[in-house]
Amino acid sequence: MEALSVCLVSSEVAPFAKTGGLADVTAALARYLSRAGHDVRTFLPLYKRIAQGKYEITPVDGLQNLTMQFAGRQVRYSIHSTPITKSDAKLYLVHCPEFYDREGIYAADGDEHLRFAFLSRAAIEACQHMQFSPHVFHCNDWHTALIPLYLRTVYAWDRLFTRTRTVLTLHNNAYQGIFPTSVARDIGLGNETKYFHQEDWREGRLGFLKTGIIYATAVSTVSKTYAREIQGEELGMGLQDLMRQRDDHMFGILNGVDVAEWSPATDTLIPHRFTADDLSGKALMKRALMQKANLPYDPRAPVVGIVSRFTAQKGFDLLADAMTVFLQREDMRMVVLGSGEERFERQFDWLAKNFPKKVAYKNGYDNELAHWIEAGADIFLMPSRFEPCGLNQMYSMAYGTVPLVRKTGGLADTVQQWNPATQQGTGFVFEKYDAQAFFDTLQRALRTYRDDLQWRRIVQNGMAQDFSWERQIERYVEMYRRLPQL
Ligand code: ADP
Ligand code: GLC
Repeated sequence: MEALSVCLVSSEVAPFAKTGGLADVTAALARYLSRAGHDVRTFLPLYKRIAQGKYEITPVDGLQNLTMQFAGRQVRYSIHSTPITKSDAKLYLVHCPEFYDREGIYAADGDEHLRFAFLSRAAIEACQHMQFSPHVFHCNDWHTALIPLYLRTVYAWDRLFTRTRTVLTLHNNAYQGIFPTSVARDIGLGNETKYFHQEDWREGRLGFLKTGIIYATAVSTVSKTYAREIQGEELGMGLQDLMRQRDDHMFGILNGVDVAEWSPATDTLIPHRFTADDLSGKALMKRALMQKANLPYDPRAPVVGIVSRFTAQKGFDLLADAMTVFLQREDMRMVVLGSGEERFERQFDWLAKNFPKKVAYKNGYDNELAHWIEAGADIFLMPSRFEPCGLNQMYSMAYGTVPLVRKTGGLADTVQQWNPATQQGTGFVFEKYDAQAFFDTLQRALRTYRDDLQWRRIVQNGMAQDFSWERQIERYVEMYRRLPQL
């Protein structure tokens, strides 16, 4: 079958720019599409931190000193490139200091709409300059969700895109990129206002994500359960009617685990490696993690791990009371890595201060420590209120760390409840979003932990799961091939 050409555009690509799972997923899409023989070209802003990083970045011939009429002025930019780690695919970096020379990936400077509308248009115009005619523009989240509309308006004249279809992947409907309608002119869509969602428009709002959902040839989400959940009131976040209207064009494709990055047998970020058949390295990792976290090591004391962004989504408001009870009562440890909303940072600070021999909390982002926690912990907590897919529960299973999750989105699709009678199951699952349900489930997990045989079985069940990208990438390719008929 014909190889596909794909233009993938995102605000995050690991390891270059990452705040969460979006980065892991776009990097894996690029890597595995390319390994499957497709021509994938990925676009990301050249953020200041990438420019200052240790990457080998080269200017792309013919794509230097370009200009675009944008936001009422001539904006200058260039395209640079760097290889996507462990693949032949190329990452194209949009170099435009006026938009991307900022401290972080996202900014609170009042011009986010310009920064990401520009990325979307620069990707399209770079394709024009390269005469690259993609079968698919694959957009991700609100930042690049205007591409489908741009292609049918501003760039509709260009026959290069006659065969081009679009996919918008929703990684998280909680972020929709909603701006006042006054931004339409600056982003070059001032003459196209009839295309925006009219009810929103009358109320003075222009939503990037919503616009993408309307005009993308297909919309995908990162798990089947989330695809269903966002058609409902509770998790639709205002998009549920639209999601239902587009049901025939919706795909739910679970994220995968990139084994090049997350595999306990080959991980170079951890000092001890292991496999399901020989878990001695995992025991050593537990000891190493305790040392690193400055907590007393006891092989029998279960270690509970958390690696997360701290937002309401992640469900950590269920934890405080239960953890206080267990930490008082049990000989256990807890290692937490993350940052975000202050109320959660304070909660973990408090636990670490009150249980200095049991709890270690590192505030911040630390990829290496994330690998150590996945490898060295026994139980991994993800009590999410909602979770489009979630990657850490899959990383946990791969590393023999048993996930405790709420039954929502991708967590529901990847973790099966442990059943002692059948010896089946990969983790501990609760359904109702309340503190008591979390408490009972953690209690069950801690009790099961004391039974070595049962625990070993859960660990091995988890490690035997296949969440490989090789398989998931085929689902994406099937979706791409169906686009011309949609
Ligand atoms: P989300 O995208 O909602 O944050 P996911 O579970 O899909 O959730 O992905 C989170 C990714 O970000 C994982 O790769 C995880 O290891 C990583 N991560 C989250 N917080 C941190 C942190 N503080 N330090 C290092 N890695 C982190
Ligand atoms: C989002 C979601 C997470 C998902 C990730 C990658 O940030 O919160 O559940 O795994 O995107 O798709």
